[in-house]
Amino acid sequence: MNSVISSHSPQAVSQAVSVLNAGGLVGLPTETVYGLAARADIDAAVANIFRAKGRPTGHPLILHIADISEIDRYAFNVPSAALTLAQHCWPGPLTLLLHKTNAVSHLVTGGRETVAIRIPANECSRKIIEQCGNALAAPSANLFGHVSPTTAQHVLNDLGDKVDLIVDDGDCTIGVESTIVDFTTAQPQLLRPGGFPAEDLELIIGQPILMPSGDSRASGMLDSHYAPKCTVVLAETIAEAKQALSEHDSARILEHWDNSPLYAASLYTQMRQADSDGITAIIAVLPNTSGLGLAIRDRLNKASFL
Ligand code: TXA
Ligand code: MG
Repeated sequence: MNSVISSHSPQAVSQAVSVLNAGGLVGLPTETVYGLAARADIDAAVANIFRAKGRPTGHPLILHIADISEIDRYAFNVPSAALTLAQHCWPGPLTLLLHKTNAVSHLVTGGRETVAIRIPANECSRKIIEQCGNALAAPSANLFGHVSPTTAQHVLNDLGDKVDLIVDDGDCTIGVESTIVDFTTAQPQLLRPGGFPAEDLELIIGQPILMPSGDSRASGMLDSHYAPKCTVVLAETIAEAKQALSEHDSARILEHWDNSPLYAASLYTQMRQADSDGITAIIAVLPNTSGLGLAIRDRLNKASFL
C-alpha cells in the first residue's frame, strides 16, 4: 500500500522522514524530475531502489543533500571550480561528480570510487533531507529505461505498488534531469546535459567543460534511455516534421519546437500522454543546442534510439 501526501500538508515532512528513517522509499519532488528516495546509509533501502526500478545494480545513484557544508562528509579533494559551481548553482539542477569518502557505500556508487551529489531546489524535499540527517540516494522515480516522471501521478503509474509514500508538489518546473559535471578528471567533463545549461556553467568557472570520453561516460549515456512505448521520429525542421506526420497513421508532432523552458518542462509529459492516448509515433523537432536545447536533443535522441 502506498499513499500520496501534498507537500503543502503540515504532516508531509514528518511522514516522509519517518518512512525514510524506517528504511522505506519515498517519491520525492525536485525541480527537475521526481526522485525515488531512500536513506543512502541504509543498505537494504538502497537495494530496494534498484529492485523497485528494475535497475541493474552497476548504475550509480545521485546523493541529494540539503546544505553545501555536507559536501565534505561525502566527498574529498573537491576542486575549487566544483565548489564555485556549488556556491553559484545550488540549490538547482546541477550534479557534481567527486571522489567519494567512506561515508558513501559502494551500493550507492555501483562499486565506483566517485559519487554524484546535488542539492535539489524543492523546499519541501530539502526539509525532508535535512531532518533525516543523512543524504538521500535518489534516481528518477521511473521504471528502468522509461521516461522520467514530472508529476506525482507519473510516479504512481510506474511505481505505485513499490513506493511507501509519494510527496506531491505538482509539476516539476524544469522537467529534464540535472546537468552532471565530472570533476574527478583532469578537466571537467559534461557527463549529462541537463537543466543547467553547460555554457552558463563554463561562464561561472571561466573554463571549458569538455564532452565526455573514456570511462567517464555516465550510464545515463546509454544509447537507448528515457524512452516512451511509441516510436519517436526526429526532425530538424517543422517542415520535415509535417512531412513525417503525413507518412504515419496515428502520429502527433510534439509541441514547442525550440530550446525554450516550456519544451523541456513538457517533454516527458507529452511522451507519456502519447502512450496513454495510444499514439503509435511522436514526431519531435530538434531544438538548437544552446540553453536547454542540448538536454532536450539528448533526451530526444535517446528516446528515438531503437
Ligand atoms: O535531476 C536529477 O538528477 C534526478 C533527480 C531525481 O535528482 N535524478 C536522476 O537520477 O536523474 P538518475 O539515477 O536517473 O540518473 C543519474 C545519472 C545516471 O546516469 C548515473 O549513471 C549517473 O547519474 N551517476 C551517478 N553516480 C555516478 C558516478 N559515481 N559515476 C558516473 N555516473 C554517475
Ligand atoms: Mg533516470
